[in-house]
Amino acid sequence: MTNNVRPLNMQRITTPALAEAFINEQLVALREQIGEKRVLLALSGGVDSSVVAALLIKAIGKQLVCVHVNHGLLRKGEPEQVIEVFRNQMDANLIYVDAVDRFLDKLAGVADPESKRRIIGAEFIRVFEEEARKLDGIDFLAQGTIYPDILESGPVKAHHNVGGLPEDMKFELVEPLKLLYKDEVRVVGDALGLPSNMVYRQPFPGPGLGVRCLGAITRDRLEAVRESDAILREEFEKNGYAGKVWQYFTAIPDMKSVGVRDDRRVDEWCVIIRAVNTKDAMTATVQNIPFELLTHITARITSEVPGVNRVLYDLTPKPTGTIEWE
Ligand code: XMP
Repeated sequence: MTNNVRPLNMQRITTPALAEAFINEQLVALREQIGEKRVLLALSGGVDSSVVAALLIKAIGKQLVCVHVNHGLLRKGEPEQVIEVFRNQMDANLIYVDAVDRFLDKLAGVADPESKRRIIGAEFIRVFEEEARKLDGIDFLAQGTIYPDILESGPVKAHHNVGGLPEDMKFELVEPLKLLYKDEVRVVGDALGLPSNMVYRQPFPGPGLGVRCLGAITRDRLEAVRESDAILREEFEKNGYAGKVWQYFTAIPDMKSVGVRDDRRVDEWCVIIRAVNTKDAMTATVQNIPFELLTHITARITSEVPGVNRVLYDLTPKPTGTIEWE
């Protein structure tokens, strides 16, 4: 399809002025495509869907219906930020779906990584479809497809993120970012006034903390990985590592070990810290973090996160380790 091919002479969007020009062009094109009709968007709060949402809010306001599905596997503060930015600040038409129990019940006892991914992806489509069916008169589905998605997997965003088109529901697609690279999407997001921690956030897998809570997901370990990740992010921000390290997070294995707390032996979980740099995620090197910072983060996690008595730092590059623990 020719309109899915980036013209060779298309200028790279690198400055606020170029972003403004792109936005103005898109506002005209989107209004022409959509007219008075309504558009549905699954808004995860990731960079691509957030930029599409902001662009469409500017173009068609309340004709856009955003659905944010909280599957319980998002990082600390993410659902709250989606509501704050899009509903409170941008006055968007946002449906918030609390599907936490539904996802965690489906995932209970499932330890196999591929099965977990499949359940999360399938359940996401089901929840989204249910919400879509409740709405009348939706003709369009907006998607945060970007150019690398098209290069990798054809015309529809079908890569390993959760989401996608409900199979039997016929919508026309609205994909305003489909010829842009990720760095260009970020420049456009900045120009649209999105918060920089949303625009410049590190990569986060579609199945979210589900790939970092190893084995069968339990609520106690899921909270432990979410809280320890929040502490790691806070300390990296405070100490100047946040903008410098490509990806950093915690993972929690399904394994307890003995420790001591208040002079008593306790069997508790351990948490693994991962912090890596890479260009293309195919290979990665481990970030050198000062020992003092690691011990400080360890002290915070073991005292603030219930049920965790040990913290480990993963020194393995890719290969042989992958970036995620799964
Ligand atoms: P691995 O673990 O294979 O990860 O070294 C490479 C990069 O891909 C990210 N990743 C995902 N991204 N959906 C995504 O959008 C996924 O399901 C997924 N799984 C892994 C991972 O975080 C790392 O940046």
